[in-house]
Amino acid sequence: MSSGVIVLSSAARPELTAAAQQLFPELRIGGTMHTACLPEGWRLDLAGSARLLPPSPPRGKAAPPFAMDLLAPKLRWRIQHPGAEALLRACLNKLAAGSCVWDASAGLGRDALMLSSRGSVVDMFERHPIVYLLLLDALLRAQEAAAYPFALPRLHFGAAADAVNVLPPPAVIYYDPMFPPRRKEALVKKDMQIFHQLVGIDEDIVSTAQRLRTCCTKRLVIKRPAGSAPVQSASLQPSYSVDGGGCRFDCYLP
Ligand SMILES: C[S@@+](CC[C@H](N)C(=O)[O-])C[C@H]1O[C@@H](n2cnc3c(N)ncnc32)[C@H](O)[C@@H]1O
Repeated sequence: MSSGVIVLSSAARPELTAAAQQLFPELRIGGTMHTACLPEGWRLDLAGSARLLPPSPPRGKAAPPFAMDLLAPKLRWRIQHPGAEALLRACLNKLAAGSCVWDASAGLGRDALMLSSRGSVVDMFERHPIVYLLLLDALLRAQEAAAYPFALPRLHFGAAADAVNVLPPPAVIYYDPMFPPRRKEALVKKDMQIFHQLVGIDEDIVSTAQRLRTCCTKRLVIKRPAGSAPVQSASLQPSYSVDGGGCRFDCYLP
């Protein structure tokens, strides 16, 4: 089985070390371990920050390390100037401040951060262990920086639908799974190219959406590329959509 390597340095934050050792019990501080969660030749460095290093191509420039950053200037600008962002209109319309929102597909954590910046209490869920560790690291760094005047989302490892018996039901669930790429990889943003190589495609989108719809009290919102078919089945049809320009937010009532 092909595999990459995780390296855990003593410089990693204690919370990151604990999470990594819970997910990978064989991982020792100062040690390395192989895991099939990473593609062949990839390395995850857990140190002062968490960095993912894809293998260098045989010719040409080495790929730069990938890290998640919830303090990136572009994201901070979005938070300060949200305008009428379609994500916020779709998820937060007619919702009281302080309502609970789940982001069932945390990924880079950006959408969850946008939702929490508008006063929602956000729980985000990520089931890919490597993505989870990268996002946890970004979240810890954002907490330390104390750069945001609102409560940051809480991160959970695993699937949102499995949390229904543990957490109170949220008003809204937001779901943005990995669909097969429709455009040429070269046109897809660099971080999504990495994601496609690391996570691949989510194969359980319809069944997950069916479960999630029963877990929320107000609506399930699913992000889709503009012009693509909605996630649907005989028992699952969107009630309305919010146009987001290059994407669309389909809203399903429970
Ligand atoms: C397209 S990315 C989400 C991007 C995210 N909206 C953002 O703002 O960065 C999809 C992520 O959701 C995760 N995911 C997909 N289905 C999931 C599920 N059922 N439970 C937990 N995580 C899931 C994938 O592992 C991947 O990291």
